[in-house]
This record gives sequence, structure tokens and C-alpha cells, in this order.
Amino acid sequence: MKKIINVGMLGIGNIGRGTYQALEMNRQKISETTGFDIEIVKILNRHPDKDRGIYIPKEKYTTDPMEILTDPEIDIVVELIGGIEPATEYMATALANGKSVVTANKAAIAANGKRLAALAQENHVLLRFEAAVAGGIPILTSLTTALLSNRFTEVHGILNGTTNYILTQMGEYGKDYAEVLKDAQAKGFAEADPTADVGGFDAANKLSILISTIFGTDAAPEDIPTQGITSVGKEDIAFANGSGYRIKLLASAREMGGKIYGGVEPALVPVTHPLASVSNEFNAVFVRGNAVDDLMFYGRGAGPLPTGSAVLGDVIGVARKLEKDSAYDIVPQLRYDSGLTFVGEGANKYYIRMMVVEKPGVLGKITTIFGRHGISIESVQQKAPYEVNGEIVAPLIFIVFKVEKNVLLGALDEIYKEDVIKSIDNIMRVAE
Ligand SMILES: NC(=O)c1ccc[n+]([C@@H]2O[C@H](COP(=O)([O-])OP(=O)(O)OC[C@H]3O[C@@H](n4cnc5c(N)ncnc54)[C@H](OP(=O)(O)O)[C@@H]3O)[C@@H](O)[C@H]2O)c1
Repeated sequence: MKKIINVGMLGIGNIGRGTYQALEMNRQKISETTGFDIEIVKILNRHPDKDRGIYIPKEKYTTDPMEILTDPEIDIVVELIGGIEPATEYMATALANGKSVVTANKAAIAANGKRLAALAQENHVLLRFEAAVAGGIPILTSLTTALLSNRFTEVHGILNGTTNYILTQMGEYGKDYAEVLKDAQAKGFAEADPTADVGGFDAANKLSILISTIFGTDAAPEDIPTQGITSVGKEDIAFANGSGYRIKLLASAREMGGKIYGGVEPALVPVTHPLASVSNEFNAVFVRGNAVDDLMFYGRGAGPLPTGSAVLGDVIGVARKLEKDSAYDIVPQLRYDSGLTFVGEGANKYYIRMMVVEKPGVLGKITTIFGRHGISIESVQQKAPYEVNGEIVAPLIFIVFKVEKNVLLGALDEIYKEDVIKSIDNIMRVAE
């Protein structure tokens, strides 16, 4: 008789539904290729009367998480409720009860992944979280299996579909940020409260997990320099389009001289870079390995079925190990400690847009201050002047050569004190 792997699922929202549906769609293929059947036998549903838009026999529902976390018949717990708590405690209880855990929860893994991974190891069970980074893109599995022979020097990701959709629409149709955000919310690409996405925090959680996986070091999300997309204006988009760039919210990290530098910020990406052509809600991860060289993964970073595909992939991977009765985990997710240290942003090329009073000597004042701070200017553009409250002002756009962000901010503080400077409107990294 075919072995049955029993799964208990916590949560039946977007991804819970997508995971259930992906299993129903592909049950026979999974069974034929693996030799075992996967059954979602219990589902934590705190509102069992709510219409979930999918047929699920109601006997599968429970409102009591302990019925799943302690059920001796359940082999794998799939956590899809989201948020740090109670998700972390539920996962910890499942692991302590000898169950392997699969989750899509980047917030909980970025905050508590190490503790959960240690607990999994102690209890000889497995912890998997492929869906937590870039949804349907199998980046973590690839990095920790097929690409394990590499040392990686760089990773750059477009890891948030909402912000990529907004920036693409702004870039292609010249629309305002606020207008596109409203449209994205209406189409279901953005949450009613978009802070985690547009503020860059969602991408920082994912970058934190990538840094641990790729570089074997801790970078807590709160230690990752994070800038969202809310300051990106039409003027920035126009400059980028006219100068051979696309603006992307990039989550990047690189190794240099034994240190890891990185952050999340909107960046000008040259159109010749493969990440520049990643549009709308799509995600991509670009890595550079010392054997495989440049490699880019592209796909849907969110949505019920793509994310459900990644969740089920983890369930099948874990089930295969259980099937062989070997929960010994050879995949070094979150347990590989390289001794490297994460130190923040490092030096980058930057784009600065400011509004100045249009009169002789202004440019000289600014370049003198940049010079005093050791900052070299690659290019400067003045846009057409116009009148505001009887004063003629003009936007100035600088690209400066590589400089530490704190040095740049120090210079800009000094520049801002000059009475001919009206505002400093945006600072963005220029990717190379
Ligand atoms: N949405 C995506 O495209 C996507 C992509 C990648 C990863 N993820 C991750 O996947 C996870 C789930 O996201 P989602 O979009 O499916 O969220 P969602 O639609 O809000 O679903 C969450 C589900 O969990 C339930 N829930 C929340 N808190 C609970 C609690 N304390 N006790 C019991 N049930 C609780 C909710 O119940 P009610 O419905 O009854 O309120 C709902 O069924 C998150 O960690 C998210 O970051 C999502």
C-alpha cells in the first residue's frame, strides 16, 4: 500500500488556498513521481464559517492549533498564518513535537529562523521556507543544493512584486506614485496598508534570509539599511528613462574583503542589466557564484498558486526524506556560519535630485562642498527653471562616484544649509 504523508495546515487565506488547490490539481502526478500520497488532513481555520472560495470538507477544519501541533498522525505542519507571533510559537511547538515544518513566513523566519532551525536539528526534523523568499522562484533550494559548490560574491533581488508593479507603471505611463498605488490596491497587487511593501521592510526580511543562506552570516532585518519607494517622483523616472536606467527596489548584498555589504533601496539599474527588464509584479534574483558565474532566476514572487507551488515543493522534499526515514538534514539553511560580518551599505555610486535657486554661483557652492567631503561628481544636469512664489528655481541632478552613504549624507547636510538650496528631494543608489 502507498505511504500517506499527513499534513496539518495552519491558516486558510491566500496561500493556504493556493497550496490546497495546487495539491488537488497535481495530486496524481505527485503521487506517481514520488511513490507516496500527500494528504492535508487538518486545517486551522479560526473562522470556520467564513467563505474561503474553495471546497474543503468541513471535517478537516479545526479552530484549535494544538489539534494539529500535537497530533501524532501528522508528519508535516505547514504554517501559513503569517506574522511573527503566534506563528513562531506554533512552529516551535510543532518542531518540539517531532513534526517537520514548512512555512512561507518571511517575517517569522527573518526574526526567528535560527532558533527554529536549531530546534529542528535538535528534534531530528526538518524546517523549510522556500516560499518565504520570492514566492514561486525556487531560489533557496537551488542555492542549497544544485549551487552548493559555489562561493557567492553578490546577490541582487527584485523581491517585492507590489513595489515593482508600482515602479513599472510609473516608468511606462508617467503616472504618479499615489495614482499607481491606488490602482495597484484596486487590482489586488497592493495591500490596504502597503507600508511593509512600499517601505522596503518586506524586501528586507527576504534579504535577511538570503544573506544567511548565501553568506552564512546574520543580518537582522532591523540592521539592514532600508529605504522604500515613496520618495521616487516623476522627475526621477524621467531622468532614468532618458539616461539609460530603470528604477527598481533592489535588495542587494555583496562580499568584499571578508565583509558583507548590503541594503534595500530604490536604485537606478542600467537597462543593459538583466534585472532592468523585470517588470510589473514579477520578481527576480541575480547571483554571482565563483564557479557558475552570473545566474538569474525570474518568476512570480507572490500569488496563491505560485507560492503554493513552492510550499508544496518543500512538503514533497521533506516527505521524501521522511519516506527514507532520514530526517538528517544535509541542507545548511540558516546553520552555515562563515564568520563573515554584515556591516551595512558600503560605498556606492549615488543619484541626488535637489531643487535650487537659479542664479550664478550655485553649482560652484555645491561642488565645493562635495569636494571638501572627498566626493567626485560623475555628471550633473540642470532641468528647465520655473517660477515658484516669485523665485526662479531649477531641479539639479547629480550622479556622484562611489562614496559611503554616511559621507554623502554629511555633505548633503552641509549643502542643505546653503540658502540657495530649496530641498533635497531624492537620493538613490546607482547600480553597476
Ligand atoms: N500572499 C502572497 O502572495 C505571499 C507570497 C509569499 C509568501 N506569503 C506568506 O504566506 C503567509 C500567508 O499569507 P497570505 O497572503 O495567505 O495571508 P492571508 O490571506 O491573510 O491568510 C492568513 C490566514 O491565516 C489566518 N490567521 C491569521 N492569524 C491567525 C491566528 N492567530 N490564528 C489562526 N489563524 C490565523 C487567517 O484567518 P482569517 O482568514 O480567518 O482571518 C487566514 O486564513 C504569510 O507569511 C505571507 O508573508 C504570502
